[in-house]
Amino acid sequence: MKDLSAKTVLITGANRGIGRALAREYAAAGAHVLGVARCPAEDPSGGAVEWIAADLSRPDGWTRIIEAVAGSGRTLDILVNNAGIQQAIDLDATTAEAFREKAQAEIAVNLVAPLCLAQGLIPHMRRPGATIVNITSILSRHPKASAPVYCATKAGLASFTDALRLQLAPLGIHVAEAIPPLVATDMTAGRGGGSKLSPEAMARAIVEGVARGSKRIAPGLSRAFLMIDRIAPEIAAAMMAKS
Ligand SMILES: NC(=O)c1ccc[n+]([C@@H]2O[C@H](COP(=O)([O-])OP(=O)(O)OC[C@H]3O[C@@H](n4cnc5c(N)ncnc54)[C@H](OP(=O)(O)O)[C@@H]3O)[C@@H](O)[C@H]2O)c1
Repeated sequence: MKDLSAKTVLITGANRGIGRALAREYAAAGAHVLGVARCPAEDPSGGAVEWIAADLSRPDGWTRIIEAVAGSGRTLDILVNNAGIQQAIDLDATTAEAFREKAQAEIAVNLVAPLCLAQGLIPHMRRPGATIVNITSILSRHPKASAPVYCATKAGLASFTDALRLQLAPLGIHVAEAIPPLVATDMTAGRGGGSKLSPEAMARAIVEGVARGSKRIAPGLSRAFLMIDRIAPEIAAAMMAKS
């Protein structure tokens, strides 16, 4: 593995799932990892993570992260907006109050937090040379019925990622979209049978994609899905609708 000992990497949702695997991968390569979590795990990556405790559903959580980076005096090489939530929501069977609460939390964590962290952390990123990675989903291309707010947030984040890439290119800051297929984490528990990618394989794809300067990091079935979407978007839409 390439030596990344001169790099500082900030990862949200670093306490479990894809984020934890990514924190371990970067820490093993020698990078200084700043891990964001509501409740930092005790030792998720061999002790090599510096934790920032923050709730990403709240503006004071975003501010806390930006202030922690500013106060550390570190320059970020890589920012990974990984944290996310996916809720099954049946609009016809939900009260207005419950729906608003769920939707606000999902939009805040999946969409507004990555936007505000990117904006607030740009002044603390290496230029030229830094990379922002936003983790979207193949559901950003075509939604499924059961998680309408999740799909909307991922479509919004994919669009923001493309706009941010255009805006930051003159600063020499690269912006990448990571598009996981089904990955075996808590988020997909009980779904997908044996066809899931491991969080470690997804993390390796992100590390390698960032090193290559890729615009889209789409390992495994995600790559196949994007190809089908290019050739036959209506088939791709039908595949996702009931997934
Ligand atoms: N797994 C898949 O198949 C898949 C596919 C496509 C895209 N993705 C995307 O990949 C990313 C990681 O997913 P995953 O599968 O690793 O999910 P996961 O195992 O459920 O982990 C989600 C992470 O997000 C954090 N998080 C959630 N709400 C938070 C909040 N309010 N404040 C701070 N952190 C919060 C969680 O921390 P807590 O422990 O505090 O809850 C956890 O670390 C997400 O953006 C997801 O949408 C996943």
